[in-house]
Amino acid sequence: MEIQINAKKSLMGLIKVPGDKSISHRAIMIGSIAEGITEIEGFLRGQDCLSTIECMRKLGVDIDLNEKLVKIKGKGLYLKESNSILDVGNSGTTLRLIMGILAGQNFETTLTGDESIKKRPMGRIIKPLSMMGADIKSRENNFAPIRIRGGKLKGINYKMPIASAQVKSCIMLASLYADKKTLIEEPYPSRNHSELMLNCFGADIKVDKNIISCYPVSKLYGQKISVPGDISSAAYFIVASSIVPGSDVTITGVNINPTRTGIIDVIQKMGGNIKISNRKIINNEPVADITVKTSSLKGIEISGEIIPRLIDEIPIIAVAAVFADGTTVIKNAEELKVKESNRIKTMTRELKKMGADIIETEDGMIINGTHCLSGAEVESYNDHRVAMSLSIAGIMAEGKTIIKNAECVDISYPGFYDTLNKL
Ligand code: S3P
Repeated sequence: MEIQINAKKSLMGLIKVPGDKSISHRAIMIGSIAEGITEIEGFLRGQDCLSTIECMRKLGVDIDLNEKLVKIKGKGLYLKESNSILDVGNSGTTLRLIMGILAGQNFETTLTGDESIKKRPMGRIIKPLSMMGADIKSRENNFAPIRIRGGKLKGINYKMPIASAQVKSCIMLASLYADKKTLIEEPYPSRNHSELMLNCFGADIKVDKNIISCYPVSKLYGQKISVPGDISSAAYFIVASSIVPGSDVTITGVNINPTRTGIIDVIQKMGGNIKISNRKIINNEPVADITVKTSSLKGIEISGEIIPRLIDEIPIIAVAAVFADGTTVIKNAEELKVKESNRIKTMTRELKKMGADIIETEDGMIINGTHCLSGAEVESYNDHRVAMSLSIAGIMAEGKTIIKNAECVDISYPGFYDTLNKL
């Protein structure tokens, strides 16, 4: 599907964004291995999270998805062997996290996914899970299709070479099945939804700075979970409302966990006008409304410890940088190369087609703010975050922008174009 985006004069209104993707995946997986009923409200019905539901169903979990609620009859820690291959679709989170659960199961499972998934590195989870005792075979020891036979696991001490919440969560899920404590050390803090949610379900995870101690459990207990709005989805409107003249937009009920709010810090540092109100804590997670008004942005350097706190928002930050005064330099973001597409390459290439002054570097991008783009025909590379970032670029461009393969937004944000139209 192609979509045509026209220039917009201002964005006004009150919106809600769909449920947080990371929290939705975790609620399905942790609810599945808990005992009793888990009810999830605000679940993200994006393709990735639906893949997680399908995989857990194949492992014998009874999951009912209706308009308002997801209801899981938890199977407890030990699942049923699947009689077919698990297909994770486009979802790296599904594959990496479920491997942690499968490492504790005394049977063999084969997993695969789409073309993009088959190119994404899995060595980063194969290594610690093998150290714990899982038997894993994969293409070139790094790529899906991947086969895992789990069983008795050993607690390990693991120093993660990269800050990755998917790797951390995978080890943490496996640690529930281990014979003793597992210690995980992160180079920088990455999103901590697994830690918060596992403790909600009765696990014993202790965090001291960048060291996480995970204790094995005999059971987890089903919970009622309310999924807040996804800040990674709100990010498109935070940037759009900052750069489209005369805008004033409020996004209600967004997760503002500090491990995710790098986008707010960056836009504020660039000179953005963002107000946070109506703060609450729901299921251990902070939630609030975010109001954004147009402002003049200036270029900044984005590097180091903040990168994991905004890794998924870098494509849209690149669009903000085009409409800022001066130069924005993004460094230490080499992880972007192994996302749904190589986001350094894809964003640089497509924004260049629209006339941006942007240079690809080894670990990021350099963007000179020129305050103008022209409409062009651009490619999403089937990467949802590229499609949505280019849509926001499109509303600021002169003339029409056509986005090819635009339907991939359904991976994380079904209804994205409707919300954009509403504003
Ligand atoms: C996620 C972690 C991040 C992020 C991804 C979701 C998660 O990936 O990019 O979209 O839910 O744990 P990495 O762990 O590879 O950094």
